[in-house]
Amino acid sequence: MVIEATAREELDFVVIDRVVHKHNVEPGAVIPILQEIQDTYSYVPPVAIQRVAEHMNIPASEIYGIVTFYAQFRLQPLGKNLVKVCHGTACHLCGAEMVAETLAQVTGAREGETSPDGLFTVERVACLGCCSLAPCIMVNGETHGRLTPEAVGKIMTEIQKAEAPASVG
Ligand code: FES
Repeated sequence: MVIEATAREELDFVVIDRVVHKHNVEPGAVIPILQEIQDTYSYVPPVAIQRVAEHMNIPASEIYGIVTFYAQFRLQPLGKNLVKVCHGTACHLCGAEMVAETLAQVTGAREGETSPDGLFTVERVACLGCCSLAPCIMVNGETHGRLTPEAVGKIMTEIQKAEAPASVG
């Protein structure tokens, strides 16, 4: 279960403490602990890192190092739309960097980030399994292929329009 945004601001340390103690505060359990925290909040909040570090008696910087090393961890809440950018070999050769750059321009989120408006989280992934359509992205589980900058911009703009509050009058 993901805890709602309103509850994120003031983290319930009871939840974090329970996760840490479930893993017996063992140093080797840092990654499973972080995974469980991310499953709960959709990201690893900085205050949670501090709390885990205190419990485990290791520097918070060490845990930050782990969170930033592994692509699976996020330091920002998940946006409303999850965009996975394929960097497998075929997509790499066919313009994955162009796709990522266009996404950054249109959404304001680089890979590993959530856009300032909270609409998009962009993640870098390996092969999405549809190499003949390279370069590809997956948006909320739906694959889009043979992308050009224009096509990427159109997909994102349509989502932005759909998410925009209806204009009054
Ligand atoms: S390399 Fe991108 S889908 Fe396979």
